[in-house]
Amino acid sequence: MIREVEETKFVKQFYDLMTEVECGSHFDFSNPRHDEWLRRRISRHYYRGVKFFGYYLEDDKPVGFAGLLAEEKLEGVACFGQMTELLDIGIFPEYRGKGYGKELLKYTENYSREFGAYCMYMATYAKSHETIAFYGSHGFAPVATLPDVHGPGDEGRVYLRKIIRH
Ligand SMILES: CC(C)(COP(=O)(O)OP(=O)(O)OC[C@H]1O[C@@H](n2cnc3c(N)ncnc32)[C@H](O)[C@@H]1OP(=O)(O)O)[C@@H](O)C(=O)NCCC(=O)NCCS
Repeated sequence: MIREVEETKFVKQFYDLMTEVECGSHFDFSNPRHDEWLRRRISRHYYRGVKFFGYYLEDDKPVGFAGLLAEEKLEGVACFGQMTELLDIGIFPEYRGKGYGKELLKYTENYSREFGAYCMYMATYAKSHETIAFYGSHGFAPVATLPDVHGPGDEGRVYLRKIIRH
């Protein structure tokens, strides 16, 4: 079952997974600054109106989550189109490769379609080849890169998108 999760519950149930989704292996659990950084980031996501959807098994065990930002159109202004951005998606390691990620991605895509978005997009670290392959196998095509967004000497960010309303 997939349902929306409010912030306190999200932090309680998905914090550890969020460290991996947001920071990969760079998150240091013993560093309080890392903890503060992530908690602030989660709060900012909620403040911006990001919807976090949790995937739960029948016994209510959490399996993973997806965070989606739905941007409203500015009436009558073509350059402010209705769009959605997938900010985060993660499945707890023991449940990976069983189709749950695919279901969550499909759910956010359907949500975006019902919202009336023309396109749904996401950005990911350019080195995350597995994540890019995961999105690619669901019709999200790389359309742009920001090669030095993190500074020189690091991989940048890749933007992928899927047109969902023609
Ligand atoms: C990426 C992630 C969400 C995928 O979820 P998952 O439940 O393991 O993926 P699924 O089992 O639903 O896989 C769905 C499809 O993606 C494909 N896929 C998954 N991982 C893949 C990979 N590494 N390379 C190629 N294809 C891949 C599967 O083959 C499957 O395709 P199919 O439907 O044609 O059989 C999960 O692995 C994860 O949480 N990773 C760590 C966090 C992360 O990197 N998040 C993304 C950054 S925001």
